[in-house]
Amino acid sequence: MKTLLRSSILGAALAALIQGCPDADAANRKTLEVFSWWTSGSEAAALDVLFRMYKEKNHGVEIINAAVTGGGGSAARPILQTRLAEGNPPDTWQTHPGYELLARYVALEACDPVTDLYESEGWNKVVPKSLIDEVTKSGDMYAVLVGVHRGNVLWYNKKVLEKNQIKIDGTLTFDQFFAAAEKLKAAGIVPLAVGDSGIWATAEIFENTLLGVLGPQGWHDLFSGKLAFDDPKVKQAAQTYGRLLDYQNPDHSALSWDGAVRAVIGAKAAFTCMGDWTYGEMIKAGLKENQDFGWVDHPGTQGSFIVVADGFTLGKGAPDTAEAVAWLRLIGSKQAQEAFDPLKGAIPARTDVDKSKFGDYLQWSMASFAKANLVPSCVHGEAAPAAFQQAMNDAISLFVADKDVDHLTAALVQAAKDYGVQR
Ligand code: GAL
Repeated sequence: MKTLLRSSILGAALAALIQGCPDADAANRKTLEVFSWWTSGSEAAALDVLFRMYKEKNHGVEIINAAVTGGGGSAARPILQTRLAEGNPPDTWQTHPGYELLARYVALEACDPVTDLYESEGWNKVVPKSLIDEVTKSGDMYAVLVGVHRGNVLWYNKKVLEKNQIKIDGTLTFDQFFAAAEKLKAAGIVPLAVGDSGIWATAEIFENTLLGVLGPQGWHDLFSGKLAFDDPKVKQAAQTYGRLLDYQNPDHSALSWDGAVRAVIGAKAAFTCMGDWTYGEMIKAGLKENQDFGWVDHPGTQGSFIVVADGFTLGKGAPDTAEAVAWLRLIGSKQAQEAFDPLKGAIPARTDVDKSKFGDYLQWSMASFAKANLVPSCVHGEAAPAAFQQAMNDAISLFVADKDVDHLTAALVQAAKDYGVQR
């Protein structure tokens, strides 16, 4: 789309030049291309708020929304990769910190540092060091973070649980979940809504369950090569994940993650296991937190926080550098994060926001972030190289069909050997 637009702008300018009469309009038009995968109802609405704020501050700049449909970026990243290989980078693109940013884009010299912005905007003082470290290579920062998601959350329709006399008191163990699931199944309700038309969405259930069984130390050991992917605990997690899938909706592979959320919203299903972008969808649908929907740590993961942070880069050699810098300055600001994150269902990357602008869930998540063990997500590209992430997704695809625990863990062992899991 952008390529087309650019080539048509270039074409118009060129034609005008050839005719000796420059088409000033086309040649002078200021644009900003923002590449992301924010296309679900709440994602698009939240992104739009940023666009509106941007336009207020940057009159006359036309924003090209190059969002590619497909939650988790599964469809967007390959397109981005091709564009980068062709030397046609967007001005700025969505990225997760950690491996995704540092090994995919920074190592390939696809983005320019934004270290000066961190200094001039004072972000070093208000963004936690643990987050800044994940966007830093050799002393330079390469992305501006706009929000932080919590991956390990189990969401539920409160009325469905009440109707079925299921009470959740602060935490939920796997056994309690399975007892509730049996009850729901007997009542004809889908216990666990899953929308894995993008395989990452079910991989997320595996990731959360892995953390629930291994704990944060085990997670760090696993992703630093100290614990084998066929350790009995990993097998136990795979087994539990398989049991969870016994309670999913039969049409899971036809639904996207937000389709699964809609099943919970519409009381067709009781729970969904998904990062807190789910909150954005619930709120967008007009549901009230703690009244219509509730949440609990994914079983076993209380005290841990799977970090899924969203940042934007400064594309090296992209055409609209000044416009992209203005975009980054905006999304790193307090005003933008206070406006965007409550709609997106994320907590701000900055710690100096007005918390009263955030609802109960997000305040809960902020409190969790401040004291929990923070662990990087593998499904969202932070914990391991892209090739490992892909191999895990492939292995999960097979597992959803055959539920073969040994097969899954052997594939993960092989992937760790082939691609490594240490930065
Ligand atoms: C994640 C992203 C979130 C959310 C989710 C579903 O990768 O960090 O912002 O949008 O995908 O699309």
